Amino acid sequence: MGTNLARNFANNKIRTIVYNRTKEKTIGFIRIYGSDYLEGETNLKGFVENLEKPRKMIIMVKAGEPVDAVIKQLLPHLDKNDIIIDCGNSNYKDTQRRFEELKKKKINFIGCGVSGGEEGALNGPSLMPGGTKKSYQSIAPIFRKIAAKDFAGKPTLTYIGDNGAGHLVKTVHNGIEYGVMQIMAEAYDILRKFYKLSPPKIADIFEKYNKGQLRSYLFEIAITVLNQKDDLKRGYLINNILDKASQKGTGKWTAQASLENGVATPSITEAVFARILSSEKDRRTHMSKLYKAGKKRRKLPLKKFIKFLEKALYAAMLSNYAQGYDLIAKTAEVEKWKINLKEISRIWEGGCIVRAKILNFLHKNASTNKHLFEIPKIAKEMKKNIPHLRFVAAFGAENGIPLPGLSASLNYFESITQESLPANFIQGLRDYFGAHTYERTDRKGTYHTKWQ
Ligand code: 6PG
Repeated sequence: MGTNLARNFANNKIRTIVYNRTKEKTIGFIRIYGSDYLEGETNLKGFVENLEKPRKMIIMVKAGEPVDAVIKQLLPHLDKNDIIIDCGNSNYKDTQRRFEELKKKKINFIGCGVSGGEEGALNGPSLMPGGTKKSYQSIAPIFRKIAAKDFAGKPTLTYIGDNGAGHLVKTVHNGIEYGVMQIMAEAYDILRKFYKLSPPKIADIFEKYNKGQLRSYLFEIAITVLNQKDDLKRGYLINNILDKASQKGTGKWTAQASLENGVATPSITEAVFARILSSEKDRRTHMSKLYKAGKKRRKLPLKKFIKFLEKALYAAMLSNYAQGYDLIAKTAEVEKWKINLKEISRIWEGGCIVRAKILNFLHKNASTNKHLFEIPKIAKEMKKNIPHLRFVAAFGAENGIPLPGLSASLNYFESITQESLPANFIQGLRDYFGAHTYERTDRKGTYHTKWQ
């Protein structure tokens, strides 16, 4: 990622110097990619001294301690007003801490979310910087050049907000990425298990989806992944990939931020749990022998089903975004960041992993002070598509196919749009066993009952 980002700067005629703690790596990289705009330094002091002041230094290392270690090594060589930019997937709380620590030393710190993988880093990522507006303004001219483009051809870069805002938004981007991939995987699962479709047949269906409202980078790459032949044995590669999904942590951080800030993001959290359950392969294999799969019940002609599924996926996708956006908005409230959900949607239109047609729709319609489901055009889409999500979730339940992402997306919608939930019942029980008190519907105050 770091090397590709450096090449992207140099390709845009921005003088770039790279440094890696392993001398040979720097030398090897410059041997291949060195140019008038791209140089290497094998000595950290030399690297810092060679930069124009105020220095703009990007750190691209593993999240966590390595970021602190690099900052510590840089500090003795820096001057007032220099700017350190962490472009890794850091936890926003760490970014806030680093921001405050460096502020005391008069060093500017920007936590910048970068999305788009290796390819995006080279050809144009989506960039989500957080820090002071002033330090953002001094990096914006060069970051604008390396960013991808939105639907209108503008750079996918915007100022997100103070201190950790950029990294929180990148974390939630990844959480949404988890949620969307999970519901896509569930669609794939029904089509292969229930309709017994081969990978290229499923790819054909996804190709149709990718021409409509679901058009996205993730569907685009899913078509390639499903059509890929295995070069180690006959057949399709997907059939030989072990069903254990890994994770590096940003999905978990999204779930943690949700719990800490009291925001429901069940689709994202279920996607994290689904990966955890997938990793229990031995246990699953053992227990699958104890519980034989039930008889398949409902059968709907495939042609009809895939139309329903497309609409169900669209409703679930909107539900995922509604949850993610709510988390961003509420975290911003807690942290006193002024964020703009329209702008965030715009910079996700291009370059990033969740780039999709739906983001253009959200760019036009999202509002920072409103839940997505409250916005008339989005409500219209939900009303149109939710019956299909209900159908597909029930279909999975009846046929014993786990659909945690689709069901969570549905249940989130059902809960957040329902005036009456059974929480009165929970309050009654809590008051009974713990005198935890409750509020009433007909008068103000806190009540406790001597239950008979
Ligand atoms: C991106 C990706 C990138 C990375 C994820 C993968 O936006 O470019 O999201 O950040 O590929 O961190 O996350 P997991 O390994 O947790 O799936």
